[in-house]
Amino acid sequence: MPIEKTLVFLKPDAVQRALVGEIISRFERKGFRILALKMLELSESFVREHYATHRGEHFYEPLVRYVTSGPVVVMVLEGKNAVQVVRDMMGETFGTESPPGSIRGDFALSDRYNLIHGSDSVQSAVEEIGRFFRPDELVSHPTDGLRWVYDMTGTEPV
Ligand code: RTP
Ligand code: MG
Repeated sequence: MPIEKTLVFLKPDAVQRALVGEIISRFERKGFRILALKMLELSESFVREHYATHRGEHFYEPLVRYVTSGPVVVMVLEGKNAVQVVRDMMGETFGTESPPGSIRGDFALSDRYNLIHGSDSVQSAVEEIGRFFRPDELVSHPTDGLRWVYDMTGTEPV
């Protein structure tokens, strides 16, 4: 599996419930590297565009109200198979259906207020990173920090 980047944002309920540190800590401990991080309030038009695939769904308007209801914390994470691994760490969409051990499984009960967004494909990750960050907002880390996260002795991290 390749090293990938993915876009994550912690939704307003995560910020208001003071779960930002807990959630970021899980990603750090897993071995992901944070390439970019910022807190901001998303505009309604930006959120409508971000969730454009859900336009027309019964939950679209409440979803827009939810995600614009307060500040969010946005980040780019990098790691092996990052898109799928982050989605697995998030759990299922609904808090009630998310297994214990996942972020939503451990901290969410709502089927809407589910704390976190993560890109759902490599293609959407590329698009979302481009919408949330300018290229110069992403840092590059020295690779020597990775040698106890992956086996780096071959041509690619294992
Ligand atoms: P996200 O896009 O935020 O990472 O979440 P997801 O992929 O797990 O879920 P998705 O189907 O893309 O839905 C986006 C967000 O809309 C809210 N939602 N409400 N039936 C409902 O009432 C319903 N379904 C979805 C959730 O906040 C979900 O994360
Ligand atoms: Mg989604």
